[in-house]
Amino acid sequence: MIVTTDDLFKVAYGKFAVGAYNINNMEQALGLFQGNVDSQAPFIVQISKGSRKYAHVSMIEAIIRAAEADFPEAIFAVHIDHGDEPTCYDAIESGFYSSVMIDASHEDFDENVAITKRVVDAAHAKGISVEAELGRLGGVEEDIKVDEANANLTDPGQAKEFVELTGCDSLAVAIGTSHGAFKFSGTQGLHFDRIAEIQKLLPKFPLVMHGSSSVPAEEVARINAAGGAIDPSAKGVDENEFIKAVPLGVTKVNIDTDGRLVWTRVHREFFRDHPEAFDFRKPGVIFVQEYAKFIAHKNEKLGSAGQLAEVKKVLGI
Ligand code: G3H
Ligand code: 13P
Ligand code: ZN
Repeated sequence: MIVTTDDLFKVAYGKFAVGAYNINNMEQALGLFQGNVDSQAPFIVQISKGSRKYAHVSMIEAIIRAAEADFPEAIFAVHIDHGDEPTCYDAIESGFYSSVMIDASHEDFDENVAITKRVVDAAHAKGISVEAELGRLGGVEEDIKVDEANANLTDPGQAKEFVELTGCDSLAVAIGTSHGAFKFSGTQGLHFDRIAEIQKLLPKFPLVMHGSSSVPAEEVARINAAGGAIDPSAKGVDENEFIKAVPLGVTKVNIDTDGRLVWTRVHREFFRDHPEAFDFRKPGVIFVQEYAKFIAHKNEKLGSAGQLAEVKKVLGI
């Protein structure tokens, strides 16, 4: 059942983080829904501009509708990830989405406020909530490259002002993560002090952590052993740190890259071990199972596993 993102945040805030998973195809949808039902977790399925282009808006939305019917136990929200203004308006008009993210974080503060406020006004008129972003993550995001050295952590005072001026419902904050497989080197990690400062000024306000993949070294090693060439210095967020961020207001955790690594590992190993094979459904079935296991594991780390009964109780479902 599709619910509002706000409802999930109301139940989750301070207790667990809701996993927000990007999908681009049918196999990911099958594994995502299976993994969340298996681990009894509420979740957010999110669609990027790239996904809407790759799978066609009509098709990716139809896949989600079909999954909702096939997995009647699943409780989830549908979200636009890193939307621009036209994508947000299109999603708001469609009536299909629980929430949209307007990402104008590459603009200066005043322009980010102006763009976000326009989207918030349009979304709220239709009962849809809005995630915005302030601060710059490192790494590669859509077509914008931000040098890790110049990635700005979110300024807490600006975050409070930004939320007051825009009326957004949740805020993606830059707290040390970046998109993709190369996030940290050496002993770098999440900036808990910064998250705590933001929460102090924005109590009970849901914060969103982007770039939350952990890029497991074993996964990279398996991919490379099966013919891949991913730089083994790739490093992500320690997934044992998710739960420490929860009491500080981190309520939504975005994961995409790790799922892509699962896909790559399964398919590389399958075709290495079965060079004669060409029926793509065989590795497809393995991927769905592996992706479901991966989602259930992440949900354990986020604390969302086993929360479905509580969500149903609070929301009266
Ligand atoms: O933050 C970006 C997400 O990982 C989506 O990636 O734009 O390649 O679909 P994408
Ligand atoms: P990763 O690249 O770390 O998976 O981050 C995904 C993300 O933030 C999607 O918005
Ligand atoms: Zn992101």
